[in-house]
Amino acid sequence: SSIDEWTGNNLLERKLTSLLGIKEVKVVAGDSDANKAIKGQLANEAAKQFLERIGDGRLVAVTGGTSVASIPQYIQPFERGERLHFIAARGGIGNDIGLQANIIAATFAQACGGTYSTFYYPESLSEEAHEIFKREPAAIDMMKQYERTDCVIHGIGDALRMADMRGTAEDVKSMLQKNEAKGEAFGFYFNEVGDIVHRITTVGIQTEQLEKVPLLLAVAGGKKKAEAILSYMASAPRQTLLVTDEGAALAMLEKL
Ligand code: G3H
Repeated sequence: SSIDEWTGNNLLERKLTSLLGIKEVKVVAGDSDANKAIKGQLANEAAKQFLERIGDGRLVAVTGGTSVASIPQYIQPFERGERLHFIAARGGIGNDIGLQANIIAATFAQACGGTYSTFYYPESLSEEAHEIFKREPAAIDMMKQYERTDCVIHGIGDALRMADMRGTAEDVKSMLQKNEAKGEAFGFYFNEVGDIVHRITTVGIQTEQLEKVPLLLAVAGGKKKAEAILSYMASAPRQTLLVTDEGAALAMLEKL
């Protein structure tokens, strides 16, 4: 089927919104797995939704990944943009520095004419070291910022692909497989019913804090991500707005 059959009344969007139990779903035509240009459409739609809905919000947390990284190029400086402050939704350093949340926060700030601050936190810490590091003033300050975050813009990744990309230890990867991890967001790994089966050792926004964020913008597309998106949405806060593409949307519908 194609999106043309659905347009007019946006039936696909409405159907998915109700099945996922979230605030709203926006679907752009095409499949970003099959056509790289669709990722631009996804980012463009996400930028539009962000600008329409941010209102008087001031503090925006963003995650890493190519989907979120593509958004700022579709944002022009705007008057209220000056009041926006961007931060990373969690500390961390990825392999590709350009796709890292801190860099993306800076790129958003530049696009909006706003400000940003960075938060670096090593992802390779032992539990013992993490217990000490998370009591550092910078880490405590970030946790306070997550309490008053107005908007989160985040990607959703395929669990095992993300674990591979992060160079995750073999024993952790086997554990993820055994626990049937499907999706990943914010460094949390989710199974099919939305339970967190693993979280990477870092300081970042917590699920209880996400529940209180007024504007939650999830940006993820491509047919191959359908299962990952569904696993995150199984327990996503109800105020979540999902921007996706037809490839992922139709594949999700087949599984629901
Ligand atoms: O958290 C999820 C991943 O960062 C998504 O990455 O947008 O490059 O697929 P991606």
